[in-house]
Amino acid sequence: MTALERPTGDPQGGLAVPANRRGRFSRRRLLRDAWKAGGALLAAVAGWTSWELLRPLADKGATGRIKLGAMADYQPGTATYIREGRLWLVNADTHFFALSQKCPHLGCRVPFCDTSGRFECPCHGSVYDIGGEWIHGPAPRGMDRYALSLEGDAIVVDTSKTLDGPDHGAAKFLTPPKGPSCAS
Ligand code: FES
Repeated sequence: MTALERPTGDPQGGLAVPANRRGRFSRRRLLRDAWKAGGALLAAVAGWTSWELLRPLADKGATGRIKLGAMADYQPGTATYIREGRLWLVNADTHFFALSQKCPHLGCRVPFCDTSGRFECPCHGSVYDIGGEWIHGPAPRGMDRYALSLEGDAIVVDTSKTLDGPDHGAAKFLTPPKGPSCAS
């Protein structure tokens, strides 16, 4: 009998694993652990992404005046996310707006839907036109705004004070959706 055929005991009462079985055992366990770790990582990333998208926003971004570049930098019919101010800068063709990303219903982050050309809140379905005006859903008004001004050629937003969004029915900038909603 060789040592491989008959595992020997050890002084602590354990049983030594034959050398030719050690690699297989630990590879299997390594694979199983890797799958578990991968699954846990995926779950954590999915959870974090959902939380980031849907959580009510308790705080604002930087407060104060933020320079946003020239009007010509923003194409008509576009909404540009300004991370520093946590706001959307919108070129609604005839007007620019700085819209708070925080939904006036319960505070979820409102994304812009490129296909419909509208803001669509993922939490309870409020929809706003490109100027932030309320179209439908439970929100009590349109998206809140910040004051804009020009310094030379540069657009400047003042995030120190939030202005309430327009009342239901304001609809000055309302245009038909460009295409399908992101929610459908
Ligand atoms: S938080 Fe946006 S619709 Fe409720």
